[in-house]
Parts: sequence; C-alpha cells; structure tokens
Amino acid sequence: MSSFKIKSFEEYEQAYQKSVEAPEEFWGEIASTFRWQKKWDKVLEWNFTDPDVKWFVGGKTNITENCLDRHLEKNANTLAYIWEPNNPNDATVKYTYRELHEKVCRFANVLKKHGAKKGDRICIYMPMIPELAIAVLACARIGAVHSVVFGGFSAHSIADRIQDAQCSMVITADGGVRGNKEIPLKSVMDDALELCPSVKKVIVLTKTKTPVYMLRNRDFWWDEELQTVGADCPAEPMDAEDILFILYTSGSTGKPKGVLHTVGGYMVFAQYTFENVFQYEQPEIFFCTADIGWITGHSYIVYGPLLSGATSVLFEGIPTFPDAGRFWDIVQKHRVTTLYTAPTAIRSLMAAGLKYVNGKDLSSLKKLGSVGEPINEEAWHWYHDNIGKGNCPIVDTWWQTETGGILISAIAGITPLKPGFASLPLPGIQPCLVDEKGDVIEGNGVSGNLCIKFPWPGIIRTTYGDHERCRTTYFSTYKNMYFTGDGCMRDEDGYYRITGRVDDVINVSGHRIGTAEVENAINMHTGVVESAVVGFPHDIKGQGIYAYVITEKAPSDENLMRQDILMTVSRIIGPIAKPDKIQFVSGLPKTRSGKIMRRILRKVAEGDIANLGDTSTLLDPTVVDAIKAGAIKSS
Ligand code: WTA
Repeated sequence: MSSFKIKSFEEYEQAYQKSVEAPEEFWGEIASTFRWQKKWDKVLEWNFTDPDVKWFVGGKTNITENCLDRHLEKNANTLAYIWEPNNPNDATVKYTYRELHEKVCRFANVLKKHGAKKGDRICIYMPMIPELAIAVLACARIGAVHSVVFGGFSAHSIADRIQDAQCSMVITADGGVRGNKEIPLKSVMDDALELCPSVKKVIVLTKTKTPVYMLRNRDFWWDEELQTVGADCPAEPMDAEDILFILYTSGSTGKPKGVLHTVGGYMVFAQYTFENVFQYEQPEIFFCTADIGWITGHSYIVYGPLLSGATSVLFEGIPTFPDAGRFWDIVQKHRVTTLYTAPTAIRSLMAAGLKYVNGKDLSSLKKLGSVGEPINEEAWHWYHDNIGKGNCPIVDTWWQTETGGILISAIAGITPLKPGFASLPLPGIQPCLVDEKGDVIEGNGVSGNLCIKFPWPGIIRTTYGDHERCRTTYFSTYKNMYFTGDGCMRDEDGYYRITGRVDDVINVSGHRIGTAEVENAINMHTGVVESAVVGFPHDIKGQGIYAYVITEKAPSDENLMRQDILMTVSRIIGPIAKPDKIQFVSGLPKTRSGKIMRRILRKVAEGDIANLGDTSTLLDPTVVDAIKAGAIKSS
C-alpha cells in the first residue's frame, strides 16, 4: 500500500499543513509513487485568470499502466471486479487484474483496428456491466478520449453530446436491464446517430439479445471483432496534460458542458482521495453504487479503486429490485466492507422499512460513504444505526464533476464525525467562503458561497471546445478563485456543511439538472408559450422539479397536456428530467426588465406562500395571486 496513506488525525493535520505550505513538494512526492514513462519537469503551473492549470508538466504516463500493468507483478490474481447482475439468480462474474488487463488490451486493439487513435473522441453508452469499464480503460489505453453517456439519457441528449465532442466512434450494447425495465440502447443510439455524421464506427456488445439494426461497414459486433485481434497492446505514451476524458454535466444556462479532465493530475488525485477517504486496504471489498455514467463512477468505480489495486463490486441493477433489500443482499453475499451510496437511495430504502434490513448479515461492513447531495440528519442516523450498526464511520464526501475527486470529507475512522457535515478539506484543498460582494469571509460560524483558492491535481482544465465558458462559469465570479456553485456554512469547529446549489441547478436524486435545460425542453412542446422551472424539497429525491407553464390556450384536458409535456421532456433530455409537478399559469412574475423572479416561484413551489417578500418591482403583481391560488400542494 502506498506511502501517502494518512493513519491518524495528527498525520492528517501535518499533511494538510504541508500541502498548503509546499504544495509542489507535497503532490510531487505522492506522484512519485506512480509509474511514469518520463518524470515531470515541473509539478505545477497555474493561473485562475485564463484559467490555465497544468500539473506534472512534461511528465509522460498512461493511466492504464497504473491501473493494470503495475499490479501484475505481485497482484495479478487479486480480484479487480466482482460483477453482480441485475437479476440475483444470474451468475456473478469475477475478473482478476490479469484478466482485466487482457480484456482491456484486446478491446483496445479492436478500437485501433477500426482506426481509433490518440486524441479521438469515443462515446460510450452502455449498461453497468464489466464491458463498460473495459471500454473506458481501452480508450485510455490508446489515448482516445472517452465520453461516457449515462444509459438514462435520450437520443436527443446523446446526439448533443456526440456532436459537441465530434466523436468518431461509439461503443454501445444491444440493450440493458435495470430492475424490470429493458433499455434498447442500440435503438436509442441509432436515433441519435441520424444526427451525428462524425461517427464512422459503432461497436455493439451483445447483452440482452434484443434484435438490432446493424448497418454494414458502420456497425460491428464486439465479440466478433475480439476474435480478430491479439492480446498485446502497449500503452500509448500520454503527456500528463493530454485529455483523459470528457463528461457532460448541467449548469445554470444552456446545454450541458463537457467537463474535461487530463491524465496525470486526475490519476494522482483519484488514487490519493480513494485511499485516504475510504482508508482502503486489501482484501477489503469496496462497493460504490453509482453508475459509471456519472463522475462518481468514473473516479470511484473505475479509476480510483483500480489505481489502488482494490477489489470492487460492480452492480448492474437498482436498489429496489427485486426488492428494497437488494443492497443488503449484495453486502451479505460479497462480504462488502465499504458501501458508498447516495442520500436519495438511503431515503428510499429507509422509507421501504426495516423489514428489508432485518435478518441480513451486514457484519462485514466497516465503513460507509455518502455522495451527491446533502445528507439530512434523519437519513444519516438511519444509515449509521441500521446499516452500520452504530460502529461504521460515515464519510460524507463533497465534490463535483469538475473537481475530479473528493475535496471535502472526513477520513474514515480518523476525522471525528458530525451528521450533516462533509467535515474538513482533504490535504491540498483550500476552501473559502465568499460573500455577495466577493469578499472572503474569515473565521468560523459563518456562511457564504463556497470557493477554492488554490488548484488541486483533479481540477477541471476546460469545458470542451469552449474555454470561455469554463472561465465565465467557474473563474470569473470571484477573482482568483474557483467558484463551486454551492452554498456552505463553516461552524465553530471549522467543519463545512454544504447547503446546496446557489445557482439555477437542481439536484434531483443526486443528478444535476439545469433549470434552463428543462425549460427549453418544455418550450419545444406545441402549444407551450413559456415556462419556468424551479426546485422544491422532496422527501426522497432531495429536490423535485416544479414547472410553471404558460400555454397558448387553456388545455382542454390538463392531465393529458401534463403527460404530453412529460413525454416531451423524456424525449429531449431523458426520464430523469421529468418535472414532478406542472402548474399551468397565465403569467409569470417578471420584473420591468423582463427577468423572471424565481425567488417567488421557489417559495410557491416550497409551499411557503406567506413569505414571498417584496413583489413591488414586478411588472404585474397580480400574477402572483393567480400563481398562489393554483399552486400544486405536496401530496
Ligand atoms: C452536490 C457529484 C452536499 C453539490 C460527485 C455539488 C453534495 C453537486 C455532496 C455536484 C455532499 C455532491 N453534500 N452536496 N456530500 N456531494 N453534492 O457534479 O451541490 O454530479 O455541487 O458530482 O452535487 O454534482 P456532480
């Protein structure tokens, strides 16, 4: 195990101090434990004005050599993945590091055979099966840039992402299953590809045996192609600042943006945070329940654990299939030691009741984790008491797609815990709270907008194809700081509690959804004139989506019109963006300059109509009364 593992609170404090006083020396020593084809000339070059951040400048490596080859000497027979299928009666599949290495190299050769090379963008749209991880790693092996799209996105969303990155290749499967639902992945992809002339080749894995359309000279079967290649595939030498991947995420405005991460810094940060936060040691079994289509899966199912030589459970299904005891069955079956999941999952399993927990052997569990949204105290205690049986630390890990890895979190078993608090910054992370005017708020017992004032190796480098968007979104709100978009309070002990987004991003079941994106989708529906979307507190999802919609004429059947709108949003974005509530209104509260006063809409959606605040600057204050009268109450 590596030398950078923190083993006590004292060591954490020392590491933190060193990381602030001598960041280059600090990260340089950590990076030295990795395999490099050529050592870096300089650890860090940066400015937050352009922004321009480079880590391990001049260094050359390939992340897959560190994820795979590095473990072959001593740990080739260690398990990398234990795959748990959607249907518990189907067989578990296990891969050792040696097997994974071979599969990745072979598939990388398939990609090469079809013309993929360093720098090409490849879109991956697959179910949660080992081949998804293999596809990701095969891209990294040859230096192609992967852009994984979550299996729940629509053809339209996929097409947007493929076009934005100008992908030349797609890797997908005939279909996927989650719970009782089958998703016809290839067929959805075919619809997307109608709009994507840049894609020349599609590799299709047979998974569900769903009949598919296979276009001659464009579409090829994964299994057949594998027969035609060898097992030897040397890792492409990559500059530390060459692109590793793009991952699309929602912001306040416009279409989702392609967050770009590079090889060297991301690699060092993924392993450092994984090993420290979870205090991973072989032969522990790590189970992160996220999908690889999100950043949590990238960093803590694929890269972090593999870099560390860890053994992970990869789960195809959902927490409630065949019943709400599925996670606990998996923990029992595979003797999981560390469970890393999201508050929304915890709340839904909590609502299902203890009958699904009782009788399950959870004695293997040693550590628990939470990610994606603030965890409320009730869920925290339920998780702690009933799953951890009161003796597993819960690490509440705060981070973002843009940060590459965890920034603020307890270190399992080392940092004293406080429910609801992400707790303290990891070494290398310098958070600060900033007020409306942009002044840094010093001291404790304060709240403000969360910023980070010094780069860490996993920081976003740019938004693909649009550096200006990266600058304005993250680096221009406050001078010389990375702005997270989150509100935060720092208590008397210096502990951080994330209070949620301060921008127009809604966090639904841990998924980021931009209000503007949903509005654009709703507005595409015939008969809709305008819409405004806000978040509201939701017992299970954390936040739900509330849409106010103006129609050309009063719908003759409101319910049908609502369903039509839901169908439209599903087609344009995907089912995850469907509004929970749709209220038809005749006007929206706008200021004289035409800006929608979202504050009022949020209050109405929250059911807090007594405290709407000052409405005197509205063009037509009477619309507010109509909106209040028609508000949809919580059921
Ligand atoms: C929220 C997910 C509170 C936050 C890794 C952030 C959290 C957004 C936490 C990023 C947490 C994530 N406590 N809030 N532990 N973790 N968030 O990009 O609002 O999908 O800005 O990355 O999720 O979501 P993303």
